[in-house]
Amino acid sequence: MRLTVVGCGYLGATHAASMAELGHEVLGMDSDMDKVAALNSGKAPFHERDLDEMLARHTASGHLKFTSSYTEAAAFADLHFIAVGTPQLPGKHAYDLSHLFSAVRQLAPHLKGPAVVAVKSTVPVGTAPRVRDLLNEFAPAADAIEVAWNPEFLRESSAVEDTLRPDRLVLGFETEHSWAETVLRQCFEKIIEAGTPTIVTDWATAELAKASANAFLATKISFINAIAEVCEASGADVTTLADILGHDVRIGRRGMQPGLGFGGGCLPKDIRGFMARADELGVDQALTILREVDAINNRRRERMIDLAREQLDGNLTGKQITIWGAAFKPNTDDIRDSPALAVAQKLHELGATVTVTDPQALDNARKTHPELNYIDDPIAAVQDADLLLHLTEWPQFSHVDPHRLAVRAASAKVIDGRGTLNADTWREAGWTVRALGRP
Ligand code: UDX
Repeated sequence: MRLTVVGCGYLGATHAASMAELGHEVLGMDSDMDKVAALNSGKAPFHERDLDEMLARHTASGHLKFTSSYTEAAAFADLHFIAVGTPQLPGKHAYDLSHLFSAVRQLAPHLKGPAVVAVKSTVPVGTAPRVRDLLNEFAPAADAIEVAWNPEFLRESSAVEDTLRPDRLVLGFETEHSWAETVLRQCFEKIIEAGTPTIVTDWATAELAKASANAFLATKISFINAIAEVCEASGADVTTLADILGHDVRIGRRGMQPGLGFGGGCLPKDIRGFMARADELGVDQALTILREVDAINNRRRERMIDLAREQLDGNLTGKQITIWGAAFKPNTDDIRDSPALAVAQKLHELGATVTVTDPQALDNARKTHPELNYIDDPIAAVQDADLLLHLTEWPQFSHVDPHRLAVRAASAKVIDGRGTLNADTWREAGWTVRALGRP
């Protein structure tokens, strides 16, 4: 099949390359010319496992191309995926849908024949009819255009795998047995034939699928982090407790790793956008739980600052603090709402000298946080440190031998914010070890 993907960020670039991998002819469209140039040379402008290799292969074979032209995109195919970003509005909880509406508005005048517009961007429920209205107003072939909703559940760092082998496929349509359904079933044929549960539903349910999934994931993380607060007050160990709870298949251990909490470009903004939409719909009480989820998450960052202060005898001024981690989670260079960087920035504001290291995210961190110091090597970064904080659980950090570090640090004190360092090994190497939620 021929198809386009409008918006080539984390979601769109991955989707475009994955569709080429499924055997389709794909044209990615993005208004950012630098991004288009990078993608056409087979390189993603961000770090995502397996993506560069797939981009290089399919751009070289000519099955995958990128452009900045809506005219070209409209002429290329009759199936258009929209994957533009829907960030949080500055100073508000609601989504900024301007990129989505602008993309549809710019594509529409070029749609002169039957087409399917399939939206993947995360939106508040009730957005699909607004996309439909825009097409009615601006597309010459409005009556022959169908809108489909196809939410994406990919996780950064396993985005390619999640796109090619998703847990489920959700397809939302305005009417039953539509032409759009036939087109999307054909597009995802290989994924459906592999036995992927495929749920065909209405627009609103498809829109809510993504919002509810992320609300649940965030709630699960904040639940165990709320329990971590109780563990800290009572001397219990939240990691062992999470293991115990996780053996109950109704609870499950995955997605329940206690620690510094969630960040990134999705969970924080999606729970806030969901609350804002519930408010508009007059059912704000239904989602007050998410206010608490957000508050618990933010408290983890404050708790880390308090623990750091405690370890430094109540005084942060002039202290050398090394932070392992800048990315919002391991195996990505994404620093959007990174808990690690939020803690780093706060400690800097409180007077500490903060040095950050990360295997992938330092270039991005340097741009947004020029006030911090950066060092590539996690061992060299500990030189003369009064305190080490482990805030993003890259496997590289767990593999460092703490004996090699103890001699470099001014004071061998570490706080594990992700619960993945082996506390016994570190203590044997002479470190004072504290961890969130653990005695
Ligand atoms: C998330 C959803 O998982 C994905 O389905 C959705 O499409 C987009 O949002 P992502 O933001 O890439 O994906 O990362 P995820 O792996 O869910 O982690 C989000 C944050 O939660 C990270 O900061 C991570 O460190 C934290 N987290 C995750 C925990 O603190 N504990 C966990 O058990 C899992």
